[in-house]
Amino acid sequence: MTLIAVLAGDGIGPEVTAQARRVLEVVAPDLTYEEGLVGGAAYRQTGHPLPEATLALAERADAILFGAVGDPEFDGLERALRPEQAILGLRKSLGLFANLRPARLFEGLEDASALKPEIARTIDLVIVRELTGDVYFGDKGRDLTPAGLRVGHDLMRYDEEEVARIAHVGFGTARTRRGRLLSVDKANVLETSQLWRDVVVEVARDYPDVQLAHMYVDNAAMQLVRDPGQFDTIVTGNLFGDILSDQASMCAGSIGMLASAALGETGKGLYEPIHGSAPDIAGQGRANPCATILSAAMMLRHSLGRGDDADRIEAAVARAISEGARTADLGGSLSTEAMAERVLAGL
Ligand code: NAI
Ligand code: MG
Repeated sequence: MTLIAVLAGDGIGPEVTAQARRVLEVVAPDLTYEEGLVGGAAYRQTGHPLPEATLALAERADAILFGAVGDPEFDGLERALRPEQAILGLRKSLGLFANLRPARLFEGLEDASALKPEIARTIDLVIVRELTGDVYFGDKGRDLTPAGLRVGHDLMRYDEEEVARIAHVGFGTARTRRGRLLSVDKANVLETSQLWRDVVVEVARDYPDVQLAHMYVDNAAMQLVRDPGQFDTIVTGNLFGDILSDQASMCAGSIGMLASAALGETGKGLYEPIHGSAPDIAGQGRANPCATILSAAMMLRHSLGRGDDADRIEAAVARAISEGARTADLGGSLSTEAMAERVLAGL
């Protein structure tokens, strides 16, 4: 039995996850699905954003399909109880240190991109984002200076093993693509980045067939808009990868189109859209389900060894888009459900 943990979360999470599941049930009816509470939805019922039962389900499952968490109703809670802690906790507990975030422009989506059509058409890249280190997990806190000024701090920290293992994923990914890896850092200013760069260069010796280059993150942000076609595979830290992938999404049309895989040392992975819970449109049936549907495809490919089924889903999304199916974020008026139906029709 192959078990999929479905953790829908809050905000638009349940809306988009339900549609991805419909697609999955057509393409992979033999899988077993079990739902778990996470984020604001879990806090409401259990008083914790990541209940033990959910973590146990995630540990038991072969793969996890995740929606989104981030209900603003809980913004005032201490950090450990906020919905976002659920996704950070899952990544950390399951050792999911490598986040693959592909960004490409689907044919016909030039009009939705923030870039000129001829530039938008060139985007086809993968961001390999480190997911369990950096300022997200470093020591953090609040303090007072001797003069009584309030201070906040978050430690940016990587050890060489953490950098080496994500570098291996970066090189391995580049090898399956166009053979070019760009490591993005801020080595002109940050010691963490200097170590990052040293280790990436050391790991590169194992991949003589991959062409390695380095770029500072500020320049990378600029180049992503100026000429995204220059990028193949980008490997970078947790914070830089978070920011650059949201930026890449607008080059590719919408944040509602970008899927991701969070992987560890084993085959297990957590698959989720790169977007959050979108409280501004939650409950309105307007969210684009494609990012989650495409995340389900990544799940079939990376955790379940079902690349053909993943191809089928991706082709169905591409067909729906090329035939003009558009939710509001893409300039159209289809509901979440209607968009999924267009994808189902293309299967
Ligand atoms: P967001 O990604 O939720 O929304 C940003 C903008 O994109 C909003 O205008 C939203 O309406 C739009 N958008 C997002 N997904 C969409 C979709 N599928 N279709 C159409 N439009 C879409 O980011 P935001 O507003 O910064 O964060 C909202 C909450 O989500 C916060 O609490 C944040 O912490 C959380 N969050 C959770 C993540 C996760 O669960 N992995 C990731 C990112 C943010
Ligand atoms: Mg983000």
